[in-house]
Amino acid sequence: MTYDLRPTTFFRKNIDEMTGYIPGEQPAPGQKVIKLNTNENPYPPSPAAMEVLRHFDGEALRMYSDPMATPVRQAVGKVLGVDPSWVLAGNGSDDLLTMIFKACCEKGRGVAYAMPTYVYFRTLANVQDAPFTEIPFDDEYTLPVDALAKANAPVTFVANPNSPSGTCTPVAVLDDLASRLAGLLIVDEAYVDFAQASALDLVKRHKNVIVLRTLSKGYSLAGLRVGFGVMQPALVPTLVKVKDHYNVSSIACAVAAAAIADQAYLRQTVEKVKAARRQLTEGLRALDYRVWPSESNFVLAQVPGGAAQKVYLALKSQGILVRYFKEPRLEDKLRITVGTAEQVAALLAALGARASS
Ligand SMILES: Cc1ncc(COP(=O)(O)O)c(C=O)c1O
Repeated sequence: MTYDLRPTTFFRKNIDEMTGYIPGEQPAPGQKVIKLNTNENPYPPSPAAMEVLRHFDGEALRMYSDPMATPVRQAVGKVLGVDPSWVLAGNGSDDLLTMIFKACCEKGRGVAYAMPTYVYFRTLANVQDAPFTEIPFDDEYTLPVDALAKANAPVTFVANPNSPSGTCTPVAVLDDLASRLAGLLIVDEAYVDFAQASALDLVKRHKNVIVLRTLSKGYSLAGLRVGFGVMQPALVPTLVKVKDHYNVSSIACAVAAAAIADQAYLRQTVEKVKAARRQLTEGLRALDYRVWPSESNFVLAQVPGGAAQKVYLALKSQGILVRYFKEPRLEDKLRITVGTAEQVAALLAALGARASS
């Protein structure tokens, strides 16, 4: 066969033309900032997990890691009450999203989701050169269930709680959506540890539902890069075909298994974050910000007067990082991660001083 290699590029046309995902800013090591921009947990990881890290036998690194991250599957199985065969681990939940896109999407086999949501769904669709149907949420972030069901895409994504709104769709609504879709329904529960309900039970009732979880938020382990999917075992071998063989490192596997087992510590940090979330929500509302009811570790806040970019830059100059998205419907809003009570107080003081100046 003769290839048509255009002289200007080494890459596929859709990759050349797409916009890459832009991660939130990460300050240089040692830089002192209040970091409320990428939804990390302000509390340290489980002491039990850190103990495993301290005593990790370096000799074990000579060999490849367990391709199925068995200790993670077992730990998840135990705490969620499912058989480990229902669990697939990944290098963060982004890795599971990548597997799903690789296995399901190409030209003519696309995805659907409500917008605004996690922008990585669009990035991965672009990588696969797959079509994407973006259906607007209404102003209250009610899931457009009928439109998603009508789109009936090979894969439908719902981040629940949603980012950047922090809002949740009731499980009964997702249950109904799952039964109306011929394709997969992926419920991305990255923030579920801070929410009231999980869609995990739907996995048992619907063979087309996959629930994704991560250790990056509730477990304070964003840098470890461990996430997992829960699904009926029949789906697992197909996703295994497209995953990197050793996608979870030996260190990540051991530390993650210990963190998952330490549910008491998870509950403790989550309660502290929820208390600071109330403090942040009430404080922002007192300053006339509109704040959507959040079930996650961040809030979406509409800046009074709408000058969100200005506020974002002013906070940045004072060493407080929040997230500003130059995207339709988000240009007058900030997404603010819930920090410690002290960090939230510092943020509110900075915003309060601005408002009264
Ligand atoms: C909705 C959503 N899903 C998935 C992820 C990815 O998380 P992980 O760190 O597990 O790759 C994020 C990260 O911010 C997210 O906001």
